[in-house]
Amino acid sequence: MKLLIDDANVEEIQRLVEYYPIDGVTTNPSILGKQKRNPKEVLLEIREIIGSDALLFVQALPTDAEGMVEDAKAIVKLLGENTIVKVPSIPEGFKAIRILKEEGITTCGTVVFTPMQAYLAAKAGASYVAPYVNRIDNMGYDGIRVTKEIQDILVNHHMDCMVLAASFKNSQQVLELCEYGIGSATAAPSVIDAFVKNPAIDRAVEDFIHDFESLGEKKTMSEYLG
Ligand code: G3P
Repeated sequence: MKLLIDDANVEEIQRLVEYYPIDGVTTNPSILGKQKRNPKEVLLEIREIIGSDALLFVQALPTDAEGMVEDAKAIVKLLGENTIVKVPSIPEGFKAIRILKEEGITTCGTVVFTPMQAYLAAKAGASYVAPYVNRIDNMGYDGIRVTKEIQDILVNHHMDCMVLAASFKNSQQVLELCEYGIGSATAAPSVIDAFVKNPAIDRAVEDFIHDFESLGEKKTMSEYLG
């Protein structure tokens, strides 16, 4: 499963890519808005941090297909290869996805709340579809179940499209979808940190150090062996 950071804070992205095996970064207009900075500068800095091989998702703003296509071209021109344009999974979005597919621009059908939206975005030519797990939960449905249904549709119909699950509130939700075999997930820094936030892990590491230090002054293998 590809693992992405759902954030545009460059300090946080820098910190996370240093420690975790991250495949890229996803942004959306709200995430960029929160930075209170010029989005062009922010996106260029993110691209610089993650490198040209990593995935960078950026959303088109207009609600008409022509405007979406224009935004998509500007996004890809600025940020280069491995940049994926997020397009809302609405009728104008399906139209834009079809046009962008023909132009060789990779898209993600986003704002997905139902399996049928995902199916239509994939059929139109999107390479990713992004169900919003937590937001679906908040509507009184089961976001994990909806995401699994979408995964089943893509697999059963041999569609050239993968799930990019988004909007998580905890690490368990990501794990459950990872076990199910979804292609990619994007999560906020706090959720990614929670993957290994566990007092038992910290305690085990501390115990190893403490037990080893009982041997004498030296603290590391290299001090003994080197
Ligand atoms: O980028 C879309 C999705 O990740 C939104 O997440 O947490 O705002 O529901 P959230």
